[in-house]
Amino acid sequence: MAVGGGAVEIAHRISEMGEWFHNIDLKGVPTAPAHFLGDFPRVKWKSIAPALPSDLNGASVLDIGCNAGFYSVELKRRGAGRVLGVDVDDRYLAQARFVAEVLELDTEFAKCSVYDVDQIPGQFDYVLFMGVFYHLRYPLYALDKVIKKVKGRLVFQTMIRGSLTSPELKDDYHFWNKEIFESPDFPRMYFIEKSYAGDPTNWWIPNHGAMEAMLRSSGLEIESHPEPETWICRPATVMKGNKYILDHELAGTL
Ligand SMILES: C[S@@+](CC[C@H](N)C(=O)[O-])C[C@H]1O[C@@H](n2cnc3c(N)ncnc32)[C@H](O)[C@@H]1O
Repeated sequence: MAVGGGAVEIAHRISEMGEWFHNIDLKGVPTAPAHFLGDFPRVKWKSIAPALPSDLNGASVLDIGCNAGFYSVELKRRGAGRVLGVDVDDRYLAQARFVAEVLELDTEFAKCSVYDVDQIPGQFDYVLFMGVFYHLRYPLYALDKVIKKVKGRLVFQTMIRGSLTSPELKDDYHFWNKEIFESPDFPRMYFIEKSYAGDPTNWWIPNHGAMEAMLRSSGLEIESHPEPETWICRPATVMKGNKYILDHELAGTL
Protein backbone atom coordinates (compact mmCIF):
# COMPACT_ATOMS: atom_id res chain seq x y z
CA MET A 1 0.00 0.00 0.00
CA ALA A 2 1.10 3.57 -0.50
CA VAL A 3 1.07 4.70 3.08
CA GLY A 4 -0.65 7.95 2.38
CA GLY A 5 -3.60 6.22 4.04
CA GLY A 6 -5.45 7.51 7.05
CA ALA A 7 -4.93 6.87 10.72
CA VAL A 8 -6.98 3.67 10.68
CA GLU A 9 -4.82 2.15 7.95
CA ILE A 10 -1.60 3.21 9.68
CA ALA A 11 -2.80 1.83 13.03
CA HIS A 12 -3.66 -1.44 11.31
CA ARG A 13 -0.20 -1.74 9.74
CA ILE A 14 1.46 -0.88 13.07
CA SER A 15 -0.38 -3.67 14.86
CA GLU A 16 0.39 -6.13 12.05
CA MET A 17 4.11 -5.56 12.57
CA GLY A 18 4.24 -7.05 16.05
CA GLU A 19 5.48 -5.46 19.23
CA TRP A 20 7.32 -2.16 18.88
CA PHE A 21 10.19 -0.99 21.11
CA HIS A 22 10.29 2.53 19.67
CA ASN A 23 7.36 4.83 20.15
CA ILE A 24 7.24 6.92 16.98
CA ASP A 25 4.49 9.31 15.98
CA LEU A 26 3.24 8.23 12.56
CA LYS A 27 0.98 11.02 11.41
CA GLY A 28 -0.69 11.15 14.81
CA VAL A 29 -0.63 7.38 15.46
CA PRO A 30 1.89 6.22 18.12
CA THR A 31 3.68 2.93 17.48
CA ALA A 32 4.26 1.98 21.16
CA PRO A 33 2.00 4.11 23.35
CA ALA A 34 2.18 1.71 26.33
CA HIS A 35 6.00 1.43 26.47
CA PHE A 36 7.24 0.50 29.96
CA LEU A 37 9.77 3.36 29.82
CA GLY A 38 7.18 5.97 28.85
CA ASP A 39 7.45 7.89 25.58
CA PHE A 40 10.59 5.99 24.64
CA PRO A 41 13.09 6.93 23.30
CA ARG A 42 11.85 10.52 23.04
CA VAL A 43 12.34 10.88 26.82
CA LYS A 44 16.05 10.15 26.22
CA TRP A 45 16.33 12.14 23.01
CA LYS A 46 15.16 15.30 24.84
CA SER A 47 18.43 15.29 26.80
CA ILE A 48 20.67 14.13 23.95
CA ALA A 49 19.30 16.40 21.19
CA PRO A 50 20.78 19.67 22.52
CA ALA A 51 24.27 18.09 22.52
CA LEU A 52 24.15 17.58 18.73
CA PRO A 53 24.11 20.26 16.01
CA SER A 54 20.57 21.37 15.17
CA ASP A 55 21.61 21.46 11.48
CA LEU A 56 23.54 18.38 10.43
CA ASN A 57 24.16 19.94 7.03
CA GLY A 58 24.31 16.75 4.99
CA ALA A 59 26.39 14.76 7.48
CA SER A 60 26.43 10.98 7.05
CA VAL A 61 24.98 8.82 9.84
CA LEU A 62 25.33 5.14 10.73
CA ASP A 63 22.77 4.01 13.33
CA ILE A 64 23.88 0.63 14.74
CA GLY A 65 21.07 -1.38 16.34
CA CYS A 66 18.63 1.09 14.82
CA ASN A 67 15.49 -0.77 15.91
CA ALA A 68 12.45 0.99 14.36
CA GLY A 69 14.64 3.95 13.43
CA PHE A 70 13.67 6.63 15.97
CA TYR A 71 17.16 8.14 16.03
CA SER A 72 17.68 7.72 12.26
CA VAL A 73 14.48 9.70 11.72
CA GLU A 74 15.48 12.46 14.14
CA LEU A 75 18.91 12.90 12.55
CA LYS A 76 17.43 12.90 9.05
CA ARG A 77 15.00 15.60 10.18
CA ARG A 78 18.02 17.61 11.32
CA GLY A 79 19.40 17.66 7.80
CA ALA A 80 21.61 14.56 7.74
CA GLY A 81 22.55 13.35 4.25
CA ARG A 82 22.98 9.60 4.00
CA VAL A 83 21.40 7.82 6.96
CA LEU A 84 22.02 4.08 7.22
CA GLY A 85 20.38 2.11 10.02
CA VAL A 86 21.48 -1.47 10.68
CA ASP A 87 20.05 -4.13 12.93
CA VAL A 88 19.99 -7.92 13.19
CA ASP A 89 16.24 -8.19 13.72
CA ASP A 90 14.04 -8.45 10.61
CA ARG A 91 10.91 -7.33 12.46
CA TYR A 92 12.57 -4.12 13.63
CA LEU A 93 14.01 -3.49 10.17
CA ALA A 94 10.53 -3.89 8.65
CA GLN A 95 9.20 -1.42 11.21
CA ALA A 96 12.00 1.04 10.39
CA ARG A 97 11.27 0.83 6.66
CA PHE A 98 7.56 1.37 7.32
CA VAL A 99 8.31 4.42 9.48
CA ALA A 100 10.49 5.93 6.74
CA GLU A 101 7.76 5.25 4.17
CA VAL A 102 5.02 6.88 6.22
CA LEU A 103 7.16 9.88 7.11
CA GLU A 104 8.50 10.07 3.54
CA LEU A 105 12.12 10.13 4.62
CA ASP A 106 15.02 8.93 2.50
CA THR A 107 16.75 6.62 4.96
CA GLU A 108 18.36 3.22 4.28
CA PHE A 109 17.99 0.18 6.49
CA ALA A 110 20.01 -3.02 6.18
CA LYS A 111 20.48 -6.24 8.07
CA CYS A 112 23.94 -6.22 9.59
CA SER A 113 25.34 -7.21 12.96
CA VAL A 114 27.53 -4.82 14.90
CA TYR A 115 30.22 -7.48 14.61
CA ASP A 116 30.16 -6.97 10.82
CA VAL A 117 30.05 -3.17 10.65
CA ASP A 118 33.68 -3.06 9.62
CA GLN A 119 32.52 -4.62 6.33
CA ILE A 120 30.43 -1.50 5.56
CA PRO A 121 32.49 0.69 3.21
CA GLY A 122 33.72 4.09 4.39
CA GLN A 123 33.31 6.09 7.56
CA PHE A 124 30.44 8.21 8.86
CA ASP A 125 30.30 11.71 10.36
CA TYR A 126 28.06 10.39 13.13
CA VAL A 127 27.88 6.83 14.38
CA LEU A 128 25.12 5.98 16.83
CA PHE A 129 25.74 2.93 18.98
CA MET A 130 22.87 3.12 21.42
CA GLY A 131 21.26 0.52 23.58
CA VAL A 132 23.26 -2.36 22.09
CA PHE A 133 26.49 -2.65 24.13
CA TYR A 134 24.96 -4.48 27.12
CA HIS A 135 23.18 -6.91 24.76
CA LEU A 136 26.51 -8.31 23.54
CA ARG A 137 28.61 -11.17 24.84
CA TYR A 138 31.66 -9.47 23.35
CA PRO A 139 31.03 -5.78 24.05
CA LEU A 140 34.55 -4.34 23.88
CA TYR A 141 35.28 -6.30 20.68
CA ALA A 142 32.18 -4.69 19.18
CA LEU A 143 33.12 -1.19 20.40
CA ASP A 144 36.58 -1.52 18.87
CA LYS A 145 34.94 -2.49 15.55
CA VAL A 146 32.42 0.37 15.71
CA ILE A 147 35.25 2.86 16.18
CA LYS A 148 36.60 2.03 12.73
CA LYS A 149 33.43 3.56 11.25
CA VAL A 150 33.64 6.88 13.14
CA LYS A 151 34.90 9.86 11.16
CA GLY A 152 33.33 12.54 13.37
CA ARG A 153 31.46 11.63 16.52
CA LEU A 154 30.28 8.49 18.26
CA VAL A 155 26.99 8.83 20.12
CA PHE A 156 27.10 5.98 22.62
CA GLN A 157 24.48 4.79 25.08
CA THR A 158 24.33 1.82 27.41
CA MET A 159 22.36 0.66 30.39
CA ILE A 160 24.32 1.55 33.54
CA ARG A 161 23.98 -0.19 36.87
CA GLY A 162 25.92 0.28 40.10
CA SER A 163 27.84 3.48 40.77
CA LEU A 164 26.93 6.54 38.71
CA THR A 165 30.25 8.31 39.23
CA SER A 166 33.75 7.79 37.88
CA PRO A 167 36.67 7.55 40.31
CA GLU A 168 40.10 9.17 39.96
CA LEU A 169 42.13 6.30 38.55
CA LYS A 170 45.88 5.85 38.92
CA ASP A 171 48.07 4.53 36.11
CA ASP A 172 49.02 1.48 38.17
CA TYR A 173 48.25 -0.31 41.45
CA HIS A 174 50.34 -2.62 43.60
CA PHE A 175 49.54 -6.35 43.26
CA TRP A 176 48.51 -6.50 46.94
CA ASN A 177 46.24 -3.47 46.69
CA LYS A 178 42.91 -5.24 46.92
CA GLU A 179 40.97 -2.35 48.46
CA ILE A 180 40.34 -0.68 45.10
CA PHE A 181 38.07 -3.57 44.16
CA GLU A 182 35.88 -2.86 47.18
CA SER A 183 35.14 0.66 46.00
CA PRO A 184 31.74 0.77 44.24
CA ASP A 185 32.87 3.34 41.68
CA PHE A 186 35.97 1.37 40.60
CA PRO A 187 35.28 0.25 36.98
CA ARG A 188 33.04 -2.84 37.04
CA MET A 189 31.01 -4.88 34.61
CA TYR A 190 28.14 -6.94 35.99
CA PHE A 191 27.79 -10.27 34.19
CA ILE A 192 24.26 -11.65 33.88
CA GLU A 193 24.41 -15.40 33.55
CA LYS A 194 20.68 -15.99 33.05
CA SER A 195 18.39 -13.03 32.61
CA TYR A 196 17.89 -9.43 33.71
CA ALA A 197 14.60 -7.56 33.18
CA GLY A 198 13.21 -10.69 31.58
CA ASP A 199 15.72 -10.37 28.74
CA PRO A 200 18.31 -13.15 28.33
CA THR A 201 20.26 -10.93 25.90
CA ASN A 202 21.37 -8.60 28.69
CA TRP A 203 24.92 -9.89 29.25
CA TRP A 204 27.31 -7.26 30.59
CA ILE A 205 26.14 -4.13 32.39
CA PRO A 206 28.86 -1.60 33.23
CA ASN A 207 28.94 0.94 36.01
CA HIS A 208 29.70 4.54 35.08
CA GLY A 209 33.42 4.27 35.77
CA ALA A 210 33.80 1.14 33.63
CA MET A 211 31.98 2.69 30.69
CA GLU A 212 34.09 5.84 30.69
CA ALA A 213 37.26 3.77 31.15
CA MET A 214 36.36 1.54 28.18
CA LEU A 215 35.54 4.50 25.93
CA ARG A 216 38.93 6.06 26.78
CA SER A 217 40.73 2.73 26.45
CA SER A 218 39.29 2.33 22.94
CA GLY A 219 40.96 5.62 22.00
CA LEU A 220 37.95 7.91 22.31
CA GLU A 221 37.89 11.33 23.90
CA ILE A 222 34.69 12.02 25.79
CA GLU A 223 33.30 15.31 24.57
CA SER A 224 30.03 15.43 26.46
CA HIS A 225 27.80 13.34 28.68
CA PRO A 226 24.31 14.71 28.03
CA GLU A 227 22.46 12.20 30.19
CA PRO A 228 23.50 9.45 32.64
CA GLU A 229 23.69 6.68 30.02
CA THR A 230 24.93 8.61 26.99
CA TRP A 231 28.35 9.86 25.90
CA ILE A 232 29.37 11.81 22.82
CA CYS A 233 32.94 10.99 21.85
CA ARG A 234 35.45 11.74 19.14
CA PRO A 235 38.25 9.44 17.95
CA ALA A 236 41.52 10.55 19.54
CA THR A 237 44.01 7.67 19.90
CA VAL A 238 42.05 4.93 18.12
CA MET A 239 45.13 3.99 16.07
CA LYS A 240 48.57 3.01 17.21
CA GLY A 241 50.97 3.45 14.33
CA ASN A 242 48.88 2.73 11.27
CA LYS A 243 46.69 0.07 12.88
CA TYR A 244 43.49 0.18 14.86
CA ILE A 245 43.48 -1.09 18.46
CA LEU A 246 41.31 -4.05 17.39
CA ASP A 247 43.82 -5.19 14.77
CA HIS A 248 46.71 -4.86 17.22
CA GLU A 249 44.80 -6.87 19.82
CA LEU A 250 43.90 -9.63 17.34
CA ALA A 251 47.50 -9.79 16.17
CA GLY A 252 48.87 -9.79 19.73
CA THR A 253 50.80 -6.57 19.18
CA LEU A 254 48.89 -4.16 21.42
C1 LIG B 1 17.54 -1.89 23.34
S1 LIG B 1 17.38 -1.87 21.60
C2 LIG B 1 18.06 -0.25 21.27
C3 LIG B 1 17.48 0.37 20.05
C4 LIG B 1 17.96 1.77 19.73
N1 LIG B 1 19.32 1.82 19.28
C5 LIG B 1 17.76 2.66 20.92
O1 LIG B 1 18.75 3.11 21.53
O2 LIG B 1 16.61 2.93 21.25
C6 LIG B 1 18.65 -2.95 21.05
C7 LIG B 1 18.70 -3.11 19.55
O3 LIG B 1 19.93 -3.72 19.20
C8 LIG B 1 19.69 -4.70 18.23
N2 LIG B 1 20.81 -5.66 18.28
C9 LIG B 1 21.00 -6.66 19.17
N3 LIG B 1 22.13 -7.33 18.87
C10 LIG B 1 22.66 -6.72 17.78
C11 LIG B 1 23.80 -6.96 16.99
N4 LIG B 1 24.65 -7.95 17.25
N5 LIG B 1 24.05 -6.14 15.94
C12 LIG B 1 23.19 -5.13 15.65
N6 LIG B 1 22.08 -4.86 16.36
C13 LIG B 1 21.82 -5.65 17.41
C14 LIG B 1 18.33 -5.26 18.60
O4 LIG B 1 17.73 -5.95 17.54
C15 LIG B 1 17.60 -4.00 19.01
O5 LIG B 1 16.98 -3.38 17.92
